[in-house]
Amino acid sequence: MRETDVSISDLIAPCFIREGNNVTVPIASMPGIFQFSVDRAIEDLRESVVKGLQAILLFGIPDTKDPEGRAAENVLVPEAVHAIRTAFPDLVIMTDVCLCSYTDHGHCGPLDPKGKVDNAAAVDAYARVAIAHARAGADFVAPSGMMDGMVAGIRLALDREGFSQTGIMSYSAKYASHFYGPFRDATAISSDFGDRRTYQMDPANRREALREIECDIEEGADIVMVKPALAYLDIIREARDAFDHPIAAYNVSGEYSMVEAAIEKKWISPDVAREILTSIKRAGADMIITYSVKRF
Ligand code: PBG
Repeated sequence: MRETDVSISDLIAPCFIREGNNVTVPIASMPGIFQFSVDRAIEDLRESVVKGLQAILLFGIPDTKDPEGRAAENVLVPEAVHAIRTAFPDLVIMTDVCLCSYTDHGHCGPLDPKGKVDNAAAVDAYARVAIAHARAGADFVAPSGMMDGMVAGIRLALDREGFSQTGIMSYSAKYASHFYGPFRDATAISSDFGDRRTYQMDPANRREALREIECDIEEGADIVMVKPALAYLDIIREARDAFDHPIAAYNVSGEYSMVEAAIEKKWISPDVAREILTSIKRAGADMIITYSVKRF
């Protein structure tokens, strides 16, 4: 009688990659999640891959940050893609394309003289970063900055450079959410973090999410995303009913950490993790980006 079943092949594991070798840094606000140098990341992934994990989403954590986020174009993520590809030839490698963990102000793009994110400059930078990731062998690039026109800009640049086979998973309906709090720790984003409400969505809006998703599909996104997931199950369902595209849902850091904190205190059963993933899939997600892969 069961209508919905979650399997490990539905899940996408985020990986936070640091420079160097033999680096393991626990993320204080995300129990069980670490920043790893790529050698350690490969070790950490092995068991999940053996058990059927099919896809990962890479985030680069650079040693240095500047106002333009120039390190986003360095070799950290491309080298990680290459090493992980060599270790796990069949794994689907997705890479987050954004500047916020590379800029010293923590915004998702460079700032204009008034201190607002410069949309066009951000899209140009994303396109260059996407090409570098595609060249290293990424299967999908995942622009997460919610800039207008970012999918079209990246698609055009990838095709021009001969990467028409590289897919785009767009963070299409991404809300300005407090649930991203622990991600600050995970990616060492500067403490002020920036006010992202000029480019991320108002949590109160439902119809706007459908417009954002429609734009991304028209611009060439192969997978569209709703983020966060747990507090936005209604949006996932609406998107599922409105569009035929593959839908990813991002079960974000804060959603993970609040559950882990309650499990740690023995206030709640660890089985709640599976219930949450089942709910997200039941709402209509085809795939779920989640920090709960190992627990699952
Ligand atoms: C970067 C990005 C963020 C997350 C993924 N990519 C943070 C943000 O935009 O504010 C959040 C992921 C999480 O909280 O797990 N644009």
